[in-house]
Amino acid sequence: MENLNWAELPFGYFKTDYNVRAYFKNGKWSELEACTDETITMHMAATCLHYGQQAFEGLKAFRGVDGKIRMFRLEENAKRMVYSANGVKMQPVPEDLFMEACKKVVKLNEKFVPPHGTGASLYLRPLLIGTGGQVGVKPADEYTFMVFVCPVGPYFKTGFKPVKMQIVRDFDRAAPLGTGTYKVGGNYAASLQASVRSQAEGFATVLFLDAKEKKYIDEAGPANFFAIKGNEYITPKSSSILRSITNMSLRELAADMGLKVTERSVAVEELADFEEVGACGTAAVITPIDEIVDRELKTVYKFGEEGVAGKVSTQLYERLTGIQKGEVEDKFNWNTIVE
Ligand code: PLP
Ligand code: COI
Repeated sequence: MENLNWAELPFGYFKTDYNVRAYFKNGKWSELEACTDETITMHMAATCLHYGQQAFEGLKAFRGVDGKIRMFRLEENAKRMVYSANGVKMQPVPEDLFMEACKKVVKLNEKFVPPHGTGASLYLRPLLIGTGGQVGVKPADEYTFMVFVCPVGPYFKTGFKPVKMQIVRDFDRAAPLGTGTYKVGGNYAASLQASVRSQAEGFATVLFLDAKEKKYIDEAGPANFFAIKGNEYITPKSSSILRSITNMSLRELAADMGLKVTERSVAVEELADFEEVGACGTAAVITPIDEIVDRELKTVYKFGEEGVAGKVSTQLYERLTGIQKGEVEDKFNWNTIVE
């Protein structure tokens, strides 16, 4: 892969050599198989096509400073995929099968793991879909689980540079007791109108509010939201957001750095009091935000110096990415070495 310009990779699809697949049929999971085909064939009545029976995951593998490949918090993604599968009544992928599939697909595509120091990583996309046909609204009896990988750069092309986000009040991402907490495609479908519009209006993405009261900050596009105020790391508690593994890790790092960590409802007006705010997620890593505009109320919130990441966000970013790249001691045991 000598000719690849790793440092300029976008966050997008990239053809690699293999994906891995397993099938649930007649009440049991098949063995994992390696596959070179990028396409899948399925019954036209498959429930993933009609009734949204699908869930996915996102995690990354990194080439460390020592040359080893590390996957970040693999077990947590395995657990969350079980949670999402149950959330839309799919056959869950056993955690062991999930982890084995991720290790295998990275190993098979080892040459696509970006070199250390390029800022790029290998993104894994595990996917579970209902493939059994149904015309009545009910769960499928057959499922396909697959994992493909793509070498990627940062999700927001600015990387670790602040972006601008837009609060919208004319679209909801997820209902309080809906599917927002599961990693299922429908949530992303529900976000598309608002997010395409926000990009056309010059913003990186949308900051969604809670659907019931429109008072509290919920989700930052494809990422969780966090704020720093004095010595405190604050992040929304909500039943309609994804339980971000990056955010969970940042809470642990923040506590370890001596910050107070608070999960609670975060009212929009509080933005005026925050010193630093940002989005966090596997793809977004930490993306600082330097301006938030409330589209309807026309309020503008600014954070720190324009274009400059805040001090605490920078420390968190360095510790998190340092652990992922094997530069900082993995004292929480978050990495799985792929051998
Ligand atoms: N929220 C949404 C809607 C996401 O799509 C993601 C990405 O996975 C996150 C939050 C961040 O979650 P994680 O840190 O587990 O990647
Ligand atoms: C991730 O961070 O893994 C995501 O899923 C974000 C997005 C690309 C959907």
